[in-house]
Amino acid sequence: MTTEQRANGVLFVCLGNICRSPTAEGVFRQLLAREAPTLATSWSVDSAGTADYHSGAPPDPRTVAAARARGYELAHLRARQIEPADFSRFALVPAMDRSNLSNLRALAPDHLQDRIGLFLDHAPELSGREVPDPYYGAAAGFEQVIDLVEIASRGLIRSLQQREM
Ligand code: 4NP
Repeated sequence: MTTEQRANGVLFVCLGNICRSPTAEGVFRQLLAREAPTLATSWSVDSAGTADYHSGAPPDPRTVAAARARGYELAHLRARQIEPADFSRFALVPAMDRSNLSNLRALAPDHLQDRIGLFLDHAPELSGREVPDPYYGAAAGFEQVIDLVEIASRGLIRSLQQREM
């Protein structure tokens, strides 16, 4: 069996890896542990940015505060840029918006393109939508990120459960 066939991980991707994708990493990991503990033991969860602006930095303080208010701890996470090997390490690479999606499509080899998609496509009611970039906006944008990420995380858990059946 090759590394690519064995890959049992989800890598959430945004631009800077300090707002949306670390939120998705923390929320998804916690919901998976609570709602599908068996899957949580076999699936790894990580996040990355398409850009390297913030590599090594913790999540944005507004992201940490908004997540903490909803019961998710993100302060220990550190930003990193996506690298080509990620497409073979992770079975699923959900992107937060169409700009991230097209950057990922350009980076990934042809035979691993089916691992890439829009994160919100995992929730039928959010299909085709994006997680808006909150970085230059108000506090409400950070709360909206959590709302969308929670819904899509539940959809992604259902997708993983169907995959394993
Ligand atoms: P993220 O948000 O992609 O959700 O982490 C952003 C973080 C930083 C920047 C843009 C978006 N930036 O331009 O530095």
